[in-house]
Amino acid sequence: MNVLVIGGGGREHALVWKLSQSPLVETVYCAPGNPGMVGVEAVASTDIETLCAFATDHRVGLTMVGPEAPLCAGIVDAFRSRGLRIFGPDRQAAQLEGSKAYAKAFMEKYGLPTAASGVFHEAQPALDYVRAQGAPIVVKADGLAAGKGVVVATTLAEAEAAVRACFDGAFGDAGKTVLVEECLIGEEASILALTDGKTFAPLASSQDHKRIGDGDTGPNTGGMGAYSPAPVVTEALWETIRRDILAPFVEGCRREGLDYRGVIYAGIMVTAQGPKLLEFNVRFGDPETQAVLMRLDSDLAEALVATADGQLDQVQLRWSPEPAVCVVMAAGGYPGAYAKGLEITGLEAAAASGAVVFHAGTARNAAGRIVTHGGRVLGVTARAPNLRAAVDKAYQAVGCIHWDGAYCRRDIAHRALEH
Ligand code: AMP
Ligand code: GLY
Repeated sequence: MNVLVIGGGGREHALVWKLSQSPLVETVYCAPGNPGMVGVEAVASTDIETLCAFATDHRVGLTMVGPEAPLCAGIVDAFRSRGLRIFGPDRQAAQLEGSKAYAKAFMEKYGLPTAASGVFHEAQPALDYVRAQGAPIVVKADGLAAGKGVVVATTLAEAEAAVRACFDGAFGDAGKTVLVEECLIGEEASILALTDGKTFAPLASSQDHKRIGDGDTGPNTGGMGAYSPAPVVTEALWETIRRDILAPFVEGCRREGLDYRGVIYAGIMVTAQGPKLLEFNVRFGDPETQAVLMRLDSDLAEALVATADGQLDQVQLRWSPEPAVCVVMAAGGYPGAYAKGLEITGLEAAAASGAVVFHAGTARNAAGRIVTHGGRVLGVTARAPNLRAAVDKAYQAVGCIHWDGAYCRRDIAHRALEH
């Protein structure tokens, strides 16, 4: 079977890395892919119609979508209408990530635990609500804002400024609708599960590190590192998550008539009252996937095909008990402005040390050298018999890699080590 992966970041590198190990898979194509992907054929287009034609011409038996944007744009609908097998939710279901107001309404309708909130289309009622509730409080732009549309305000002034920024167009159309939400206190975890619309199969738990600085300080980023499993997700908590979140999620999709054959990512806060949903993502997490897939012992291609075919009950996922850790190396200045085109050295030495270096924001320059090409540049990922050893192995590999201004957090997995 030929496989096509859509996307070109660290998550997609991890997906093609795992898919390439499957005996079911012949050629792996990736659109657009990245220079770290070995043995993978790059496809230059990101246009949905062109990709449909490519999949037909190259006898692609499975297309797997990494990022949310093509899902929200309806890539799944386009492929399925041509009889092409694709893994992911349809356009309507992708609104669970594309619109926070839509997701909130879904959670409330089907009784999924989440923060109390109000949805507003104008500034004044939103400001009134903020003042009535008091700080701390959370302000969210409704639409996709590349992870930047959420402000956890510790003061009223900060919350009011966030509301005004949204309605003043700071997030474009994404901020025309605003959610104001109760601030939840607890530890976060990323819960990912495959679902074929009938049943679900949870993946190993994980946790990412959203802030740029050690000790979870500074601005939010796309994610600075991840580890799996997340010790905060105990067996007892898994039971609650299955019963109160995943089962009603699948049932809600069925009743809404959503065609959801893909992966659901539930961002949860483990509060004193139990797990509560912060958000849905309709795709694999980045960098959680890098850590999670390192622990998957069973065949990913088989699981994705079964999911897309509505036969998820036919597969059993097997996980290594060994923990895995992914440390993101970012360009100096990220998540603000940063330079591109800086040569990266030490990649071979890092790989020789036993870690897997997933590329995220890299490119090949005219001289054929690997250079930086994004904010999050690499995801250095390692698995070991215990978490301490996995952390040490990942950082040892990080130590081999160099470019001017390279930055990484030094405390990935600190919470898990404390548990
Ligand atoms: P979201 O994009 O909705 O996941 O929000 C991004 C981040 O903001 C989350 O990962 C949390 O760290 C934080 N956050 C979102 N909603 C809340 C909330 N209701 N209470 C506390 N923190 C939140
Ligand atoms: N790591 C967070 C995300 O993928 O949205």
